[in-house]
Amino acid sequence: MKADFLFSLFLCILGQLSEAQYHYQSLMNYLESRMLAMEERIALWHEQNDRYNSDLKKFKQQASELLEKIGKEHGKLRLDLEGAGVRVDRVEREMDYIETKNPPKPCVRAADKMVEQEAVVTEKKKEEFFELSVCLDIVSNIRAMKILKRVGSTKGVWTKDSRTAKVYVFNGTSEDTVYEFNSVKELSASPGVSKGKQITLPSAWNGTGHAVYDSFLYYISERSELQVVKFDLKNGSMADSAVLPVEAQTPVYSLNPETLVDLIVDEDGLWALYPAGDTINLAKMDSDTLDIEQMWDTSCPRNGAEAAFIVCGTVYVVYNTRPPSRSRVQCVFDVNDMITGGEAPLLYFPRRFGAHSSLKYNPVERQVYAWDDGYQILYRLALKKKLWAIAPPPEE
Ligand SMILES: *[C@@H]1O[C@H](CO)[C@@H](O)[C@H](O)[C@H]1NC(C)=O
Ligand SMILES: *[C@@H]1O[C@H](CO)[C@@H](O)[C@H](O)[C@H]1NC(C)=O
Ligand SMILES: *[C@@H]1O[C@H](CO)[C@@H](O)[C@H](O)[C@H]1NC(C)=O
Repeated sequence: MKADFLFSLFLCILGQLSEAQYHYQSLMNYLESRMLAMEERIALWHEQNDRYNSDLKKFKQQASELLEKIGKEHGKLRLDLEGAGVRVDRVEREMDYIETKNPPKPCVRAADKMVEQEAVVTEKKKEEFFELSVCLDIVSNIRAMKILKRVGSTKGVWTKDSRTAKVYVFNGTSEDTVYEFNSVKELSASPGVSKGKQITLPSAWNGTGHAVYDSFLYYISERSELQVVKFDLKNGSMADSAVLPVEAQTPVYSLNPETLVDLIVDEDGLWALYPAGDTINLAKMDSDTLDIEQMWDTSCPRNGAEAAFIVCGTVYVVYNTRPPSRSRVQCVFDVNDMITGGEAPLLYFPRRFGAHSSLKYNPVERQVYAWDDGYQILYRLALKKKLWAIAPPPEE
């Protein structure tokens, strides 16, 4: 009985032991498979690591080669730069020399105000205007018109000195007097020209091709010869004169036969438009000495032309018909060759009944002082950048 019990107890323990052994075995199997998997992954990492290492070595090799090459090019660049530096120095010296010969011309900034810029440009502002600049404006539109007054004669000139802001009136096409006003307001308030200061010139002016700039009056006088006279308005004396080499008795604009030569002042100084055969020629003049510096054939026909103005080195010739219809800019000439025919705008002036005898552009105000059948009219111009016609500005 006791032995039976012990035997059955032994069997029971044996059973439990084999069960434990089974568990142990399966655990071992599991661990082994996990370790195998880990070993495989380690082998893979090793392989990848080797590959990365060789890639890295290759990259380092390439980088050092590149660095060496860059180093060499840097040396060459330095040599080139030193050469360029020498050249820049030389150009600067030449520029200094040229500047002492021709002081930079005013680059005028416009204020967008219709009638009046009463304030005379202050010294500080003047400084600002003096920069060697390439003026790049092109007329895109005639933005507004204002009729100011009716002085009298069907033909004449009114213009404003963009430096002193004084206004000058030439009534008619042949006289020896000019009227000076301190402002456009003073002129509009004056009965006739009675409130103006009367200035008597040493010789009579002819036509409508006169210009005023920085207290100097440049006018055309035809006696035995066609002359440009420079008159000092500050002390009332003749400063200089020069004979113009142009065909006498041929008008520059066929619709204004009294005007043989048209003198124009803009951002770049003094210009003259004069007849040459059937077309209009342009000359750049030195406003100090009245020397002619350069000449161009604009190819703009004289026939049908009534007036012209210049903005930033571009001539705009205005045409009309007889009897007068609508004035329009129909020929444009750019001394810098930056505007080609296709980009030149066809500009129409507002519809009026008369015809222009003169159009004087004021670069400070961006307005044209026009004389139309006895009326004094202001046209405000809209400008845009010349370059943008060729290469549009980058989009914002
Ligand atoms: C301008 O000239 C015209 C004709 O020559 C004359 O009738 C008119 O009175 C003049 N105007 C002034 C204000 O002198
Ligand atoms: C220029 O003006 C003067 C003075 O008024 C005059 O005698 C002369 O005939 C004019 N010249 C021309 C070509 O009109
Ligand atoms: C007028 O002024 C200029 C320069 O300011 C001078 O050269 C000239 O001699 C003066 N003329 C007269 C007549 O005073």
